[in-house]
Amino acid sequence: AGLFTYDPGFTSTAACESKITYVDGEAGRLLYRGYAVEDLIARGDFLETCYLLLYGELPTVKQKHDFDDKVTRHTMVHEQMVRFYQGFRRDSHPMAVMVGSVGAMSAFYHDSTDIADPHQRMLACIRMIAKMPTIAAMAHKYTTGQPFVYPKNDLSYAGNFLRMCFSVPFEEYRVNEVLARAMDKIFILHADNEQGASTSTVRLAGSSGANPFACIAAGVACLWGPAHGGANEAALKMLAAIGKPERIPEFIARAKDPDDPFRLLGFGHRVYKSYDPRAALMREICREVLAETGGDPLFEVALELERAAMADEYFVEKKLFPNLDYYSGLTLRAMGFPPAMFTAVFSLARTAGWIAQWMEMIADPSQKIGRPRQLYTGATRREYVPVAKRG
Ligand code: CMC
Repeated sequence: AGLFTYDPGFTSTAACESKITYVDGEAGRLLYRGYAVEDLIARGDFLETCYLLLYGELPTVKQKHDFDDKVTRHTMVHEQMVRFYQGFRRDSHPMAVMVGSVGAMSAFYHDSTDIADPHQRMLACIRMIAKMPTIAAMAHKYTTGQPFVYPKNDLSYAGNFLRMCFSVPFEEYRVNEVLARAMDKIFILHADNEQGASTSTVRLAGSSGANPFACIAAGVACLWGPAHGGANEAALKMLAAIGKPERIPEFIARAKDPDDPFRLLGFGHRVYKSYDPRAALMREICREVLAETGGDPLFEVALELERAAMADEYFVEKKLFPNLDYYSGLTLRAMGFPPAMFTAVFSLARTAGWIAQWMEMIADPSQKIGRPRQLYTGATRREYVPVAKRG
């Protein structure tokens, strides 16, 4: 008991007002600025979604052209960043590299500290959206031991990212348009999800007036965990461990056992209490990608596990459905990403939401530094005993 409401995990505390993203967890609906995510992935592209999240409206033809052009002109990172990457152990996890390299951007853009200036704020947003694919692709190249590939700005945002990840010197590389389109849809699906742990982290970090690049690095760090964005890597590992449909009952039994910490990775969500629309869309993208790349027996295991869980009382009663991360690992692996890169791809896309939420917060006149209170349960005042007398 105390003066404050105790709400571990913030299950019933709204930390902000926001006009950006609406999740209707009961209906299984996700809207960015009022637009259904399925409409955006069917008819738009990721940069349009970035514009929508940032500015609140879909761009006109001219606005879209100008925005795409601005993003394209900021895709390079400073050449000194190469040396920064080289400081990491070669077998580092790409997310460890991302936390460091995104944070390092704050040292390259001193003007971004002037967050009172709306022009500088928007410039920081454009830079983040433009450079994240380069930063993520460099993390991939570095941790796989291949030379860095520089951005090629006549390609689409997604096509450029695929090329920076998968082309190698002296080999001709042509962007596979089916995979580039799938990549773009994956980016849109991951772009925002209202006040998830990483977004709240970005807002909290930003509430002190910190440099936006440093705030995004805090979001990347939070996203890494297996209960959040790290679930895509963990879900694929789980599917690989299951291996074949016959072993599914064993894993379902473990997930239901209260004495076993094992959970079905890629299942459950704090807000979605019916089917996560992103999981259904991701399953279809996975199908499209596998049709292009040649199939994966683990996809059948995933479908069967979903069927088995959906027919099981435990999952039905607790309203545990597949989430965004359930099919994304399979899809990204089919596209050529190693599992360690899955969450890095997520962080690239979620940067759109993080930076839009950061912008909204900074411009909000009611904004205050985020400062949760606590219920203190430790010792009351005690007498200090010098070390020699402590026995
Ligand atoms: N498998 C088995 N049981 C589960 C699962 C699961 N995946 N998720 C939740 N439960 C059970 C949990 O044991 C608890 O049971 P009880 O009430 O008997 O103690 C009940 O369901 C409620 O779970 P909770 O942990 O209190 O719920 P939460 O809202 O705090 O956690 C979650 C949400 C996403 C962290 C959790 O469902 C989970 O750990 N899922 C697996 C990890 C995962 O897939 N994360 C990705 C989330 S979506 C994308 C993203 O945000 O990155």
